Amino acid sequence: MLPRHVGIIMDGNGRWAKKRGLPRSAGHTAGAANFRTITKYCSTIGIPYLTVYAFSTENWKRPAEEVGALMRLFRQYLEEALRDFQEENIRVLFLGDRSAFAPELRELINRTEEASADKTGMVLNIAMNYGGRDEIIRACRLLIEEVQQGRLHAEDIDEACFSNHLYTAGQPDPDLIIRPSGENRISNFLLWQSAYAEYVIMDILWPDFKKKDLDRALEIFAKRSRRFGGV
Ligand code: FPP
Repeated sequence: MLPRHVGIIMDGNGRWAKKRGLPRSAGHTAGAANFRTITKYCSTIGIPYLTVYAFSTENWKRPAEEVGALMRLFRQYLEEALRDFQEENIRVLFLGDRSAFAPELRELINRTEEASADKTGMVLNIAMNYGGRDEIIRACRLLIEEVQQGRLHAEDIDEACFSNHLYTAGQPDPDLIIRPSGENRISNFLLWQSAYAEYVIMDILWPDFKKKDLDRALEIFAKRSRRFGGV
């Protein structure tokens, strides 16, 4: 069975570039091109929700040159991908704190969301300046505000209510999370939502990750027995 929601940690761009004697930014450029290819493929095969991890709240710690190259890439690719995704009927949403981005990028993010709001195909979440812990704290603040304003009773806060205060409000939790590049880490990605996600770690660097690798991850997922804590 196809997962309803797939998450991808697009990891390994730096190593891909290093292996070729190229600057890290070249790895991100190749990674961005692959993001476009794999996103379209997921939409074609009928995945309802796809979340990609493009920039974490911790990635600001990288050298200014690399952060700058990533920001330029986001701008360029969002413009281009926006056109593709319009044609593919993909709805694009952004997870994360967008207030930290430069005004032009912020504007592009808002414009992309607005332009695709009426699309009825795959939902693509792009996690940018996203951190799972940051998202949980943000949800707590929103809930406290509602309680203080008398719009919510503390005893009515349950898991569903909490989920609805996350960036992914209203969406199903991820069933499958794919991590290329061989690292065995969660890296602050969808911490709350991934409670029962199946992880598939693959020893392929993200720019080399092909459609056939996605098919392979889907096959592995289909063979897993999911019990959600039951027997
Ligand atoms: C992790 O690899 C990758 C990133 C921090 C950036 C991912 C961004 C893209 C693929 C561009 C996506 C573009 C859009 C428009 C969403 P790494 O640099 O940590 O690789 P390493 O572990 O080999 O050093």
